[in-house]
Amino acid sequence: MVSVVIFPFSFLIFLIWILSLCFLVMKPCDFPQIKNGRLHNEERYRPYFPVPVGKRFHYLCNSGFVTASRRYWGFIHCTARGWRPGTKKEEYSHDDVVEYVCNPRYLLKGPNKIQCVDGKWTTLPICSTGKCGPPPPIDNGDITSFPLPIYAPSSSVEYQCKYLYQLQGNKKITCRNGEWSEPPKCLHPCVISEEIMERHNITLRWIENQKLYIKSGDYAEFQCKSGYRQTNTRPPLRTLCIDGHIDFPSCSIYMINSKDE
Ligand SMILES: *[C@@H]1O[C@H](CO)[C@@H](O)[C@H](O)[C@H]1NC(C)=O
Repeated sequence: MVSVVIFPFSFLIFLIWILSLCFLVMKPCDFPQIKNGRLHNEERYRPYFPVPVGKRFHYLCNSGFVTASRRYWGFIHCTARGWRPGTKKEEYSHDDVVEYVCNPRYLLKGPNKIQCVDGKWTTLPICSTGKCGPPPPIDNGDITSFPLPIYAPSSSVEYQCKYLYQLQGNKKITCRNGEWSEPPKCLHPCVISEEIMERHNITLRWIENQKLYIKSGDYAEFQCKSGYRQTNTRPPLRTLCIDGHIDFPSCSIYMINSKDE
């Protein structure tokens, strides 16, 4: 019995709720405030607002102003998320959000919405052609092809390092959304001078391999000068060159009558 009474009442509430939801969803566009422009036949249409999704209106620009597509007139249409293209207000308040769309053939970079936060807008998006400028220069290396002023989207270039410099990272970079991927680095070789070896009382181990420059990532092998022995096991006699830096091992004179003999 109880359910019979409650059912029509709650159903009515439900119906009202659905209808109001439909009204909100279907008529989301109030009379548009068009900055430096106006609706065509504005006064005739004004009583029909708010309007449902899908409605389209002709608008005109004030003299000296043009639409985003550089014309004197354009269309705005009502979508579930408001007018498209968006209409401007005279003043925005904290937390207001506006959305950008790029002109045809331009790609949007960054978030398409900006927000008014404490009297300032968040960072504007950029509309790019998707093309890239010349690839970024790198120290001690260069691209293997002739540089162009403009590169098409998804084109790529390759880098190479100067002699003895070791390439680290991706040799190839690609133009995506108007930006190049990260270029590689050229790591410095290590210099092994006679003078440094003399100071550390060491020589190179292999007579047939007396290289005085080694690439980053390669090992150099030393030995103590004759009559000398290694004082510390660190750095080791076989040691790695890392981006121009090498830890030279040291040896000191070997005492015949030292205690450890
Ligand atoms: C090289 O040998 C000399 C003589 O033993 C010593 O005084 C000097 O400290 C050694 N050099 C290094 C870097 O250990």
